[in-house]
Amino acid sequence: MKASYDSISQSYTDLVKTDPVKQFVQYPSALRLLGDISQKTVLDVGCGSGLFDQELAHRGAMVTGYDVSAEQIANAQKVEKNDSLGIQYVVADPSEFEATEKFDKAVSVLVLHYARDKEHLAQFFASTCQALRDDGKFVCILVNPNFKRLGQILYNRRFTRLASGKMQVDFLDKDQQISCSAEYSDFSTTDYEQTAIDGGFQGVEWIRLKVEEAGLQKLGQDYWQGFEEDCLYVGFIAHK
Ligand SMILES: C[S@@+](CC[C@H](N)C(=O)[O-])C[C@H]1O[C@@H](n2cnc3c(N)ncnc32)[C@H](O)[C@@H]1O
Repeated sequence: MKASYDSISQSYTDLVKTDPVKQFVQYPSALRLLGDISQKTVLDVGCGSGLFDQELAHRGAMVTGYDVSAEQIANAQKVEKNDSLGIQYVVADPSEFEATEKFDKAVSVLVLHYARDKEHLAQFFASTCQALRDDGKFVCILVNPNFKRLGQILYNRRFTRLASGKMQVDFLDKDQQISCSAEYSDFSTTDYEQTAIDGGFQGVEWIRLKVEEAGLQKLGQDYWQGFEEDCLYVGFIAHK
């Protein structure tokens, strides 16, 4: 099944709560790269069901998250209604997101590869740059454009390059059955760097990601074999 994010969002929402890669790599890396967020305003671009926003709010940040999926935002708002952390959620694409304040920091976890093309990617950077204070930074966790082990099932997922030039990710359940799949754009490191600069950022940096010690302890070295050497994901920071 190939799907847009609207139709896979429920299975993806279920996945993010239990996925070791989210729990022990993506979210802790984003938190580390954001640095001090206590009493800071943080914008989450493509916030999904709000799991990471709750983490940010628990650490004292004042959080606004937006996502193009009305279903994902409804999920996030449901949680916020039951356990209010003061998080603002908005349904929007970067072309329509209107910041009502200047944010100290912005973050985006596994979203930018869903930009349709380089123009759309540039919109993500331009809109976020505009929403940030002058000394702000935009922390992104990206699919690593240089990941080598395409076509292999690794860490409950498989990345494949399609004949169309797009990429596909399949997420597999514990029985190795595909639980959800999505297509995304095959952006290069240069595409990210160029569109960030074109969007108004002054400089960029790439950061290698690590598995948290707790993840190594919980799942063992065998599970994470080769993860850091040929990492599926990479950190990218755009500085305003
Ligand atoms: C892989 S999920 C990540 C969700 C969340 N950041 C997390 O890590 O839990 C990708 C998210 O990007 C959102 N997204 C995709 N294209 C978008 C767009 N053009 N504008 C805003 N959000 C978008 C999807 O709806 C989905 O919620």
